[in-house]
Amino acid sequence: TRYARISGTGSYLPPLRLTNADMVERLAAGGVETSDEWIVERTGIRARHFVADGVFASDMAAEACRKAMDAAGVDGNEIDLIIVATSTPDMVFPSTAAILQHKLGISGCPVFDVQAVCSGFIYGLTVADAMIRTGTAKKALVVGAEVFSRLLDFSDRTTCVLFGDGAGAVVLEASDVPGILATDIHADGKHAGILCVPGHVSGGKVLGDPLLKMDGQAVFKLAVGVLEDTARAVLTKAGRSEADIDWLIPHQANIRIMQSTARKLKLPMDKVVVTVDEQGNTSAASIPLALDHAVRAGQVKKGDTLLLEGVGGGFTWGAVLLDL
Ligand code: ACO
Repeated sequence: TRYARISGTGSYLPPLRLTNADMVERLAAGGVETSDEWIVERTGIRARHFVADGVFASDMAAEACRKAMDAAGVDGNEIDLIIVATSTPDMVFPSTAAILQHKLGISGCPVFDVQAVCSGFIYGLTVADAMIRTGTAKKALVVGAEVFSRLLDFSDRTTCVLFGDGAGAVVLEASDVPGILATDIHADGKHAGILCVPGHVSGGKVLGDPLLKMDGQAVFKLAVGVLEDTARAVLTKAGRSEADIDWLIPHQANIRIMQSTARKLKLPMDKVVVTVDEQGNTSAASIPLALDHAVRAGQVKKGDTLLLEGVGGGFTWGAVLLDL
């Protein structure tokens, strides 16, 4: 049997780091009140990184991919598939994956974007796994890259303190040993309105509101339920149990959602990789950023069983169970 296995990870955070105190100051300039205490208590977030003007998702993605390819010992000309998960593409078209491909000096292989908001990396990994197992690809780059800072409404304190920018990437290779053990992805479009950026481009103008809107409590309630379901689904598909999980690497939206998932899976918090404190919610980038952080910190080791899971706008959700 042919499997897909992660052979290298990489990530990139823009140098500009804004603490909660910096956000308090920035929002106060617009007459909006917030506090470090509120943000930490409700979300676990202490800081986030924002890109500079003129830097795009593809730029951060390229940095993350170079590190992942270095870690895997893979050269650009061996890559035969690039999937970028993003909701903040460089352009309407072509895909950020196409722009990234050129920045990496690669040409010819298939490339495309996956748009599943914060579940995007789980979707991308699922698609790449299927393409590798069927023989369509041998060495893929799967990337999450986001510039959510450009979608934020800094007059809306309920959302603008939650998000950050960044990119994470993995090299996924064909392998005789697993690798990815099981995948599970879902969507329910009836919830599109609870988390969206409703604007669009038409006739040379942006029509509708191009800033992020979220009903935080509705998202929270849906998230905790579906995350437990999808975690159980991949364990069942792989014939494994909660006790087999070495590390839970959840989408980093809110520490309380992560604690709730850990509790439901009977995992202690010291088996959960947490980066939301330093990065905020980087949407599709958060899982590969957390994975790379944990690998480079020596937390997560080769051979460990990892449960990755995410939930996001759409509504979309899903999980991947894998042996590193
Ligand atoms: N600073 C200070 N006060 C604030 C802030 C802020 N930044 N934001 C909201 N408040 C106030 C509100 O105005 C409200 O005040 P009121 O009671 O006087 O009206 C109070 O705090 C409580 O607000 P709630 O909305 O009830 O706060 P809640 O405990 O639900 O926390 C939060 C809000 C953090 C957004 C939470 O609902 C949440 O985390 N939801 C999930 C969000 C999420 O995970 N989104 C990402 C999904 S992934 C993706 O696809 C992008």
